[in-house]
Amino acid sequence: MIEALTGDELLVMREAGKAAATALKKLRKVIKPGITTKDIENFFENFLARYPGMSAAFKGYKGYPAALCVSINEEIIHGIPAAERLVANGDLVSVDLGIKYKGLYVDTAYTYMVGKVPPQARKLVAVSLKSLLFGIKRARIGATVGDIGSCIQECVETNGFSVIRKFVGHGIGKMLHCAPEVPNFGHTGSGASLVENTAIAIEPMVSAGGYDLDILSDGWTAKTKDNSLSAHFEHTVAITKKGPWVLTA
Ligand code: MF3
Ligand code: CO
Ligand code: CO
Repeated sequence: MIEALTGDELLVMREAGKAAATALKKLRKVIKPGITTKDIENFFENFLARYPGMSAAFKGYKGYPAALCVSINEEIIHGIPAAERLVANGDLVSVDLGIKYKGLYVDTAYTYMVGKVPPQARKLVAVSLKSLLFGIKRARIGATVGDIGSCIQECVETNGFSVIRKFVGHGIGKMLHCAPEVPNFGHTGSGASLVENTAIAIEPMVSAGGYDLDILSDGWTAKTKDNSLSAHFEHTVAITKKGPWVLTA
C-alpha cells in the first residue's frame, strides 16, 4: 500500500502540475507543420528553466534519453524527440511530460491535432479525452482501480476503439511510478482500493484499431502493430475527501 501524502506535499504537486499544464497549453501554439519533435523538447526545457527547482522527470528515467515523449500517429507512447522528425499537417501528436519538484512528481499527456485532421482521427482524440474525464470522476476514496478502468474501457469500446493493455496508469508522488497500477480496462469493484491523500496518474492510451503493439528498434517507442492511429491523454489526480483533485489541470 502506498503511503498517503501530506497536504503540503499535495500543494507542491499542484504547483508542479500547474507548470505542466501551462507547458501543454503553450505547446498548442508551438506544434505546427514543419517543426520537429526536438523543437518540442527544446521548448519544454526552455520553459522549465524559468521554474526554479523544477526538472524534467523523464530525463534519465530507466535510461530514457529525453526530457519528454513525443509520439506521432501510430506511435502510442515513449517516442523519443529527434531533430530529423518533422510534424506534418494532419498528424496526431501526443506529448507526455513529467515534472519533478521538491522530491515529488507529476505526469501529464495531451494529444494535439495538427492542421486538418480526418474525422475518424478527430473522433479518436475526442473519445480518448472523454474516457480520461470519465475515469477521473471515479477517482474517489474507496473506489477501486477496476472502477476507473472499466469505465474508461466502456467509453472507448462503445465508440469502436480499443484500449492498450501493455501499458497502464500508476500511483505517483514521491516516485514517478508506484503502486497501484491503474489499467485502462477491468471490472467494476476489482483491484486495489483508492486511499485518501494518495495520487494516481490516469492515462488512457487508445488505438483506432487493435491493441497489440510493437516496440521500435530504439528500444522505447511503442506503436500499434496494425499501424492504426493512437491517442494518449493523462492527468495526475489526488484522491481527497472532497473528491478527485486534478493536480495537472
Ligand atoms: N510518461 C510515462 C507515463 O506516463 C512514463 C515515461 S517514462 C520515460 O507513465 F522514461 F519513458 F520517459
Ligand atoms: Co506520462
Ligand atoms: Co504516467
